[in-house]
Amino acid sequence: MADEFRQLLEATLRHLEALKEHGARFVPVSPQTLEALARPPALATSAQPAPQVSTPPMPIAPPPRQPRADTMTTPRPVDPVPSRTATPKAKALSELRERALACTRCPNLVKFRTQVVFGVGNPDAELMFVGEAPGADEDAQGEPFVGRAGQLLTKIIETMGLSRDRVYIGNILKCRPDMPASEPGNRKPTPEEMQTCIPWLLDQIEIIRPKVMVALGATAMEGLLGGKPAISHLRGRWHEFKGIPLMPTFHPSYVLRGNDIHKKRQVWEDMLQVMEKLGRPISAKQRNYFLKGGS
Ligand code: URA
Repeated sequence: MADEFRQLLEATLRHLEALKEHGARFVPVSPQTLEALARPPALATSAQPAPQVSTPPMPIAPPPRQPRADTMTTPRPVDPVPSRTATPKAKALSELRERALACTRCPNLVKFRTQVVFGVGNPDAELMFVGEAPGADEDAQGEPFVGRAGQLLTKIIETMGLSRDRVYIGNILKCRPDMPASEPGNRKPTPEEMQTCIPWLLDQIEIIRPKVMVALGATAMEGLLGGKPAISHLRGRWHEFKGIPLMPTFHPSYVLRGNDIHKKRQVWEDMLQVMEKLGRPISAKQRNYFLKGGS
């Protein structure tokens, strides 16, 4: 009996891993099933009712870290996250991910990295954010934008009425740029590193074909469109990348530096344009964030 239980457990785990690999972050589990799972194996194998599909969804991956305090309030996303376990885009992205995880094109980065940070979110997303490169937190967790800057990005996404599960987040570079052991922090990717890595991102964009893209910071713009742009000149205006409208804005880590309400408002105005382009509803409260009288 114990053997059967272990086999069943292993099969379930394999199934959940496969779902996770295809981008699923939640599975529906009934309260009865949860209760049964919490019991010791001998009891859990006795005749249990068949698992029922009901709410609430339970996370199968650690939920994204909670954002730190900020001045934005966070409306909960109202529309359900579309299923993305078996769509053609999910499959193509999963296959691409497998190949990217084994990439050894930059020997210095291969030596330094803990893991490749491929990207996260919905393969069928309408909105895609592109950042620069993983930092230490992302390198450790294998997910883009999970450190301080990531917490702010998550907050921005949620304030737009979306969630990390509904959008897609990727970086120009999939590995953390190497740093001397004695030096803290991160460095900007070199042009060669960006050129070497960009095919992964191009493939991600080609698969997802989002309706709108947001470039987070000057390096993201440099990686996508080339040149050495001043982000303060580029932001707030629509650009285009492979036929997809592209809105550049400040990188969240730049916004965190100085905690300047004017910068926050500028980023927010850029996101309002993105919401308009996506045809998303915008409340009066949302319009007024970071204005006098707004929250
Ligand atoms: N900054 C980025 O540009 N990307 C990340 O994934 C994290 C921080």
